[in-house]
Amino acid sequence: MAISKTLADELEKRRKVALEGGGAKKAEDRHAKGRMTARERLDALFSAGSFQEFGMHAQHKTRHFGMENKSIPTDAVIAGTGFIDGRPVAAFSQDFGVAGGSLGEIHAKKICHALDSAGKAGMPVIGFNDSGGARIQEGVGALSAYGQVFYRNVQLSGVVPQISVIAGPCAGGAAYSPALTDFLIMTRENAQMFICGPEVIRAVTGQVTTMEEIGSAQAHASVSGNIHFIAENDTHAVEIVHRLLSFLPSNNMSDPPHRIEAELSVEDDPALDDILPEDPKLPYDCRKVIERLADDGDFMEVAADFAANIVVGFGRIGGVVVGFVSNQPTVKAGTLDIDASDKGARFVRFCNVFNIPIVTLVDVPGFLPGVNEERRGIIRHGAKMLFAYASATVPKITLIMRKAYGGAYLAMCSQDMGADRVLAWPTAEIAVMGAEGAVNILYRKELANAEDRTAKAKELADEYRAEFASPYLSAGMLFVSDVIQPRETKGAIALSLRALLSKRETRPPKKHGNIPL
Ligand code: HXC
Repeated sequence: MAISKTLADELEKRRKVALEGGGAKKAEDRHAKGRMTARERLDALFSAGSFQEFGMHAQHKTRHFGMENKSIPTDAVIAGTGFIDGRPVAAFSQDFGVAGGSLGEIHAKKICHALDSAGKAGMPVIGFNDSGGARIQEGVGALSAYGQVFYRNVQLSGVVPQISVIAGPCAGGAAYSPALTDFLIMTRENAQMFICGPEVIRAVTGQVTTMEEIGSAQAHASVSGNIHFIAENDTHAVEIVHRLLSFLPSNNMSDPPHRIEAELSVEDDPALDDILPEDPKLPYDCRKVIERLADDGDFMEVAADFAANIVVGFGRIGGVVVGFVSNQPTVKAGTLDIDASDKGARFVRFCNVFNIPIVTLVDVPGFLPGVNEERRGIIRHGAKMLFAYASATVPKITLIMRKAYGGAYLAMCSQDMGADRVLAWPTAEIAVMGAEGAVNILYRKELANAEDRTAKAKELADEYRAEFASPYLSAGMLFVSDVIQPRETKGAIALSLRALLSKRETRPPKKHGNIPL
């Protein structure tokens, strides 16, 4: 029996309403502000023709505040699955053009369906957040609806990669859904994220502030550390999503997209021999080392503007996807402080849970000294690095380029933290503390009595460095697997990664460890 024209027309009519969303005028307004509509974002995200929507005919069920006769097409969110580079991905996109993208029970149900699908089929999930928050007319039902989204974000954590794009308002408790996901991208203009806005802050505390200061992309990327990437606009945000996905597996049971050739051929790179400054006290940009190690110099840095004294991000070495973690000597001398420890530990845990080997580049003089650091809990935060590395079971390769002192040496994945290989350059200095500090303690009396204190201190420090900080001392005790020429580094790491790809390490069963938070 063929479908009647009436029925077919009705379906098309309903589809048209859903596809129009807030209508042409609202779409024009968005374009004028340089923003895409909710559907345009999904079109940009997925390969052409691959998006399959679910819940297009969704309707709210509110009967208060005159809502009984009000239609909210799609209930202000578009959800479904599609393909990116041939891989299935789930997504939702809140439609600010319809009821301000506000979240009610049906709206949340659609997001939950996308999240559930992602979990069941093991696909990444991307959420475009652009919403006035809980739909006020739905009252506590809307709060509960948020709770259901949060609950699923947590269940999916460590199962499939979750990426949030903040592309409009994301206010109050609504900000906790993206905060529970793995990576947050925020558009530079037109997006705000905050728990209490400037007006509430002023009313409650008397403090005067601006949205720029507390809720902008810039503030979150550099000060709060809540987001990982700033996008110039929606198109750029989608590009960042695509690039991230190119390094990530679809789920925790899969390998990341390695590009392994049958034959491994890596040549020496003489440029690495000259990469460190001659004076061991001078800084250098560790990204220059990373870019020489990463295939084609292709390194995707994560959270570049936050805690810049540690650099983290993705790349490939000999085709194997790796997570790089490196001290950055140009910022705070590459010391580990509270923010750097939080950033590093979270990245290590992401890599571990998604089967991404970790390459750690060490040049760390220690933890950052300071009253503030001690009082704000550097012990608790620094411990996260130890916890993250010690619990990571993926292949872990550590390269000590220069300084590796004290507890920070351990916190940068020493052999004792389970590193599978520890390589060191001849310039490595591995010791309990820096030479200058050590001689001040060990030779206090001699220095006090010396005719030329500075010359004596230098002589003793040089002696200490040669005798106690030499990489050969550590190599002799097997804390270092091998001392290598810098030029040999990429080949050595690539070979180690190949050898370790099938690594399996089991730990005692437990619910979860109790990482210091
Ligand atoms: C219902 C909402 C809404 C909401 C916006 N709208 N937010 N409807 N519930 N939360 C509607 C508006 O009534 C308007 O409808 C349309 O969306 C566009 O909103 P405008 O205000 O015209 O847009 P704009 O000037 O761009 O301002 C955007 C805004 C503002 C800054 C986001 O709308 C706003 O302040 N909204 C309320 C934010 C808020 O307080 N939300 C509740 C937070 S509590 P019409 O029909 O005129 O087009 C919360 C708790 C969650 O979210 C807790 C989870 C644990």
